[in-house]
Amino acid sequence: MNIDRNAPVGVFDSGVGGLTVAREIMRNLPSEKIVYFGDTARVPYGNKSRDTVLRFSRQIIRFLKSQGVKAIVTACNTASAFALDEIRQEEEIPILGVIEPGARVAAEKTRNKKVGVIGTVGTVGSGIHEAYLKKFDPSVTVFGKACPLFVPLVEEGWLHDPVTVEVAGRYLQELREKEIDTLILGCTHYPLIRSTIADIMGDGVQLVNPAYETALELLHLLKEKNLLSSGTEKEEFPYRFYVSDLADKFKDFANSILPYDVAVTRKIDIENY
Ligand code: DGL
Repeated sequence: MNIDRNAPVGVFDSGVGGLTVAREIMRNLPSEKIVYFGDTARVPYGNKSRDTVLRFSRQIIRFLKSQGVKAIVTACNTASAFALDEIRQEEEIPILGVIEPGARVAAEKTRNKKVGVIGTVGTVGSGIHEAYLKKFDPSVTVFGKACPLFVPLVEEGWLHDPVTVEVAGRYLQELREKEIDTLILGCTHYPLIRSTIADIMGDGVQLVNPAYETALELLHLLKEKNLLSSGTEKEEFPYRFYVSDLADKFKDFANSILPYDVAVTRKIDIENY
């Protein structure tokens, strides 16, 4: 396959959460162009079945390929857990997920070999973090906890609200009792409440943000495949955003968290792909 190194990278998520991953790509790979797709009409993925998430992911991959991307980052943890293995077998284009990079770093960082994972019901129920962590270090014990209320709280903008602190305290108590020393933020939204989670878990627990690790893995992958952008082609809009619903709402959220002004977000009909 002949791939243009100056083509954009495709990034997708069930909605706004994957912007935490796009943000790390913007910071760490500033020469790369991005086509982002947020499935705002069908979010959340976290409580849907594997088959449904796989079908949605296949449609999005087809859309991103129609935009001429050179590689794809599945920024959504639930889609990475449920769909990545299969779509990788179906596609020639390089596709990265967010689970493996986070698990790799957590396995490297843990000293007492007790690692916690928080995420959606789908991601935690899939057991995929445990599978990767054990691959990297069989002596690691993994404790998962689904935290489904975090996503709506973040989308409501209640990042430092007492309600969020209360909810986080209740979810995380179980993991505190397990005396983990490393915690994977296994959902796109959680880096946005990182400080609340850090306060509750205390200094003895290192938090792993897979968004950052995924950006670094993308850098390695593009280097290895000789696909790093030459950075010579300047474009007025190096970052393009597409959604399946409520483009203006998405744009407002994006502008609240990205270090870049999102001028235009377009709505497309993802069911056509
Ligand atoms: N993006 C999803 C994830 O990282 C969270 C939101 C959802 O449930 O769709 O798992």
